[in-house]
Amino acid sequence: MKKKTFYITTPIYYPSASLHIGHALTTVMADTMARYKKMQGFDTYFLTGSDEHGLKIEQSAQAVGQEPQEYVDKIVAGFKSLWQKLLISHDDFIRTTEERHKKVAQAIFQKIYEQGDIYLSTYEGWYCTPCETFFTERQLGEERLCPDCQRPVELIKEESYFFKMSKYAERLLEHIAENPEFIQPVSRRNEMINFIKSGLEDLCVSRTTFSWGIPVPINEKHVIYVWFDALTNYLSALGYGTEHDQLYQKYWPADVHLVGKDIVRFHTVIWPTILMAAGLPLPKQVFGHGWLLLDSGKMSKSKGNVVDPVVLIEKYGVDAVRYFLLREIPLGLDGYYSEANLIQRINTDLANDFGNLVSRSVTMVEKYCGGEVPSAQGEADPFERELLALAATVPQAVAGFYDRMDFANALDCVWRLVKRANKYIDETMPWVLAKDPCQKGKLDTVLYNLIEVIRIVTVMIAPAMPALWPKVSAQIGATVTFQPTWADIEWGKTRPGQVVAKGKPLFPRIEVREEQKKKQEEKQAAEKGKIESGEIAFEDFAKIDLRVAEVLACEKVEDTEKLLKLEIRIGEETRTIVSGIAQHYTPQELVGKKVIVVANLKPAKLRGILSEGMLLVASHGDVLEVLTVEQNLPSGSEVN
Ligand code: MSP
Repeated sequence: MKKKTFYITTPIYYPSASLHIGHALTTVMADTMARYKKMQGFDTYFLTGSDEHGLKIEQSAQAVGQEPQEYVDKIVAGFKSLWQKLLISHDDFIRTTEERHKKVAQAIFQKIYEQGDIYLSTYEGWYCTPCETFFTERQLGEERLCPDCQRPVELIKEESYFFKMSKYAERLLEHIAENPEFIQPVSRRNEMINFIKSGLEDLCVSRTTFSWGIPVPINEKHVIYVWFDALTNYLSALGYGTEHDQLYQKYWPADVHLVGKDIVRFHTVIWPTILMAAGLPLPKQVFGHGWLLLDSGKMSKSKGNVVDPVVLIEKYGVDAVRYFLLREIPLGLDGYYSEANLIQRINTDLANDFGNLVSRSVTMVEKYCGGEVPSAQGEADPFERELLALAATVPQAVAGFYDRMDFANALDCVWRLVKRANKYIDETMPWVLAKDPCQKGKLDTVLYNLIEVIRIVTVMIAPAMPALWPKVSAQIGATVTFQPTWADIEWGKTRPGQVVAKGKPLFPRIEVREEQKKKQEEKQAAEKGKIESGEIAFEDFAKIDLRVAEVLACEKVEDTEKLLKLEIRIGEETRTIVSGIAQHYTPQELVGKKVIVVANLKPAKLRGILSEGMLLVASHGDVLEVLTVEQNLPSGSEVN
């Protein structure tokens, strides 16, 4: 039977800044998904690459006195080496400066031009060069700052080709409605529907004021707009439109374009309309994951707060870094990076739960069974039945989470089994059984079950932590030396008689003094953030920027009674707000509401989450209500 195919892509990265832990997150997620699908028996294709054209790159190269090509070559070599260190298993790395890409980008441009959906006119409007994005007056607001990066935008006026994007708005809305999986998670879908409904304009798809780009095939004075150029990488890498288009035939349409939330719009509005105009099938899904933030907000080179993944890999090991990234970002929401969080995950989940399970079990097989895994014998007791029942159900649940790219829950679910196995050791007390020769059968059963759980757990987390399987299989003496498949999860594949070999601790514990200091600082910052009440002058009130915001997603803050974490949209911007209203509202009640927020409140950390604003509520006694407005006011509207 023909294998089912799975084509997954990451965005192609700009070589204008060094890659940080946030970029690593996107790539690790895609890699985990590709590895998981491969284990499930899919014929997978995993693409990543670099997005090398545009004014920003031309200027950066000039600033260091290099030719753009020379400049990008060096940076891209660094990308490739980072992906190697992170054990990224991509099948191809596409560079937009490669001939194979340029030809395809031009052919798609030409095809759309010939069928009448690209026309020549003049662009007069705003442009953000760092984001390579055109903005309308309405999107910018009075201050004329880029809604994405908050930097000043430029007014440009030049002859440009335009793509008739507006023509496809209705068809796109229909496609989104008919294909609920097309934009995931749901909060992003709603955001995009609102965006499209607010009106699509034709898109400027060429520039004339610089030359570092792919020439427009019909007019060499122009270069293709960098996003039009970049998006076509998903096809050029497959050899679309060339004599060698076997990969295209096999893998297109893509199963998932995995992207960060900031570029969902490009992938769910510009890209599908380009494909419609070119008469090509649309990707099956665009998945917009949340961001990895720092206590101080977004990571950026200009703020000088980027976290270098290479340093972390060298310090803590690749598996620990990958585990943290996948475990820390809840599906579709933002997550926070701090070294203290990373250390806590390593010490708790990896060293304490998993590492200890392996070392205790292997040590006991060495001590009580001469290093050979015994066979399970006799009647199962309630502890064993419970462990086996969990081992039988967890893999299916984990697969369900992986399928939805909900890595945080997939790993959390695996850890239920890890913790259950540790509890099983405490319940059965093999060291007591070992003292009584009549309990030999029971002891053997316990040790067999432990080794088997370790094997199954390691196979389930192999997509996330690919360096782990070889180390663990060597310790438990598993003969499966090849890459395990999902079918290997089946209970009972550990062979009695296989020889264990205790190795170095898989995840050594990290000193925590540093972590405690950071926690103290967090607490102090939260105290400081508390608002003091008192009389204020009108000018003081006028300083408060009150805005209408739409609640996109909401969830309870773990281990708290009062706090809800809300993801809200203010105009074009998405933010996180923590609010103490969990005793008055369920998260579901708030999603979709248009609320009022203080938009310029200094961000403050609450329970480790950076809250970027404050929700307005009214209360009387025990009654509390969130202030809302009617649905016909757009988010971002001013309140005064
Ligand atoms: N070149 C474009 C993509 C073109 S795809 C046809 C681009 N490049 S980028 O280098 O700026 O960003 C690439 C990806 O990294 C995006 O998905 C972005 O969301 C992601 N991230 C950048 N910083 C991030 C975090 N701090 N956290 C999570 N992802 C982040 O956009």
